[in-house]
Amino acid sequence: MDVKRFRRAFWTHFNGSQRNEPNQELWDAEVSRSLDLCPDVEGKLSLKKQQLLNLAYRLLPENEAYLEIGTYHGKSLLSALIGNPLRPTFACDNFSEFDVNSLAITQENLRKYGLADAVTFYDCDFRDILTPDRLPVPIGLYFYDGAHDEDSQYLAIKRIEPFLADEALVLVDDWRFAPDSRSYAERGTLRATRESRHAWQLLYNLPARCNGDLAMWWNGVGVLSFQRQAESALVHAL
Ligand SMILES: C[S@@+](CC[C@H](N)C(=O)[O-])C[C@H]1O[C@@H](n2cnc3c(N)ncnc32)[C@H](O)[C@@H]1O
Repeated sequence: MDVKRFRRAFWTHFNGSQRNEPNQELWDAEVSRSLDLCPDVEGKLSLKKQQLLNLAYRLLPENEAYLEIGTYHGKSLLSALIGNPLRPTFACDNFSEFDVNSLAITQENLRKYGLADAVTFYDCDFRDILTPDRLPVPIGLYFYDGAHDEDSQYLAIKRIEPFLADEALVLVDDWRFAPDSRSYAERGTLRATRESRHAWQLLYNLPARCNGDLAMWWNGVGVLSFQRQAESALVHAL
């Protein structure tokens, strides 16, 4: 992923107030629905987050993949893919959260949008997919929205490094820690990136005022860049 190109596109799409201020019109269900790429699919994201995923996926080069962990009914996954040139796409959910949540629902939603065949789906714990045979293409765009307890979040970043492209964009959902969500997304992620031998940068901390902020970034998103350091540079740095 060309992160500089993403930053330019992001800047253009979400200028000034779009990024850090609420778009109050999006609280209006009709307005949100009219702009929603898949309005009949239930999800845990706001329109801005849908647009962010769609924009980032559009910039993936042909030889890099998208990985999404924590799909729920598939709304974030669909939001990334709809209308874009398709790239290798891997997704994972173990359907362990929420009462109504299953692979059958997600697959049906993907089918409705003609995208079931575009996704290699793993119905299991995310720790079980972090192997070269399950993730055979370098991941240029990684969206993590699985469990946000500190250990899961830490592992989701720490263990993904070998599978990332040399330059990658990483989006971490539920970045905001507050009593209404108790998400350790920021804490777990930054613990992993601090320990890394590669170059990580927090590009944007996209805010929300509550968990489920439709006019902003739902429960916040951390946007990070990853740059692999060559082995020779690592040895030199020691
Ligand atoms: C907040 S929901 C994802 C919402 C979805 N991204 C959206 O925007 O609509 C979190 C999902 O992570 C899944 N999950 C939780 N722990 C997991 C784990 N260890 N491995 C895989 N999936 C997990 C849950 O089953 C749930 O569907």
